[in-house]
Amino acid sequence: MLERLMAVASRIDELLVVVDHPQNVVDLSSAAKARGARIGALVDIDVGQHRTGVIGPKEAVEMARAVRDSGLDYRGVQAYYGHLQHVSTYAERVGRVNEQIERLKEVMETLEGNELKPEIVSGGGTGTFNIDLENRVFTELQVGSYLFMDSQYASVELTPDDPQPFEHALFVQANVVSTNQPGLAVINAGWKAFSTEDKTPKLHDGAPLDTEYRWMGDEHGGLQISEAAKPDLGSRVEFIPNHCDPTVNLYRTYHCIRGDTLVDLWPIDGNGY
Ligand SMILES: Cc1ncc(COP(=O)(O)O)c(C=O)c1O
Repeated sequence: MLERLMAVASRIDELLVVVDHPQNVVDLSSAAKARGARIGALVDIDVGQHRTGVIGPKEAVEMARAVRDSGLDYRGVQAYYGHLQHVSTYAERVGRVNEQIERLKEVMETLEGNELKPEIVSGGGTGTFNIDLENRVFTELQVGSYLFMDSQYASVELTPDDPQPFEHALFVQANVVSTNQPGLAVINAGWKAFSTEDKTPKLHDGAPLDTEYRWMGDEHGGLQISEAAKPDLGSRVEFIPNHCDPTVNLYRTYHCIRGDTLVDLWPIDGNGY
């Protein structure tokens, strides 16, 4: 892992990594010294998700000092509240984000008081982008999903004036492969075709939009539909994935469509795990 990271660092102007433990700093700085690579580091701050990050101002100062003394470039902090991105009502999300922003400000002030003022303050996501803009604490927003959108974000009131300011741009196409079962059209898209950690994908085209999808195995899914509305055998149906990131990870190529025309194929280089 460190070898691959150093290889990336040698190809670009500045590689930034996130650290939350002194061991990270030791490992990264010795690998960077051995390769003659320059690595910038952000101290990860836990802002309520309790996933990664140091837990308070004192620990942030210790980590930032460790970074500075190690030969890595101390560049600032990351504070990502992933657990707040999908809080569905705007008012509740604002309140909960602002609690964490107060905690983050305290960390930043303590760092500044110790001559460790963060130059970069990185955080936020699609669910909090406009709250983060108004707060003016982050110097960098880590938004990603807005580009594609997915059905998880479709149920979030993203802004008070316009709950859904972003359009869906990521779809999975499938075909009807069996129509023998009453009340069911079986398609060739199952657990291997969509992210599966939460709800089912949402129908977007090819059958009435209130048609429910159900999982039917690795390669199959079912559309629960009346005989009258059943799509023809072989016909195409299109879905909005429930969660865009892990769905993209399942594919090797984007098929870029404008209107009804396939205009390009883009490789998905980083897929797999
Ligand atoms: C650390 C971090 N930053 C940013 C994002 C992007 O957030 P979103 O896709 O909600 O815009 C993620 C998403 O998983 C993340 O883990």
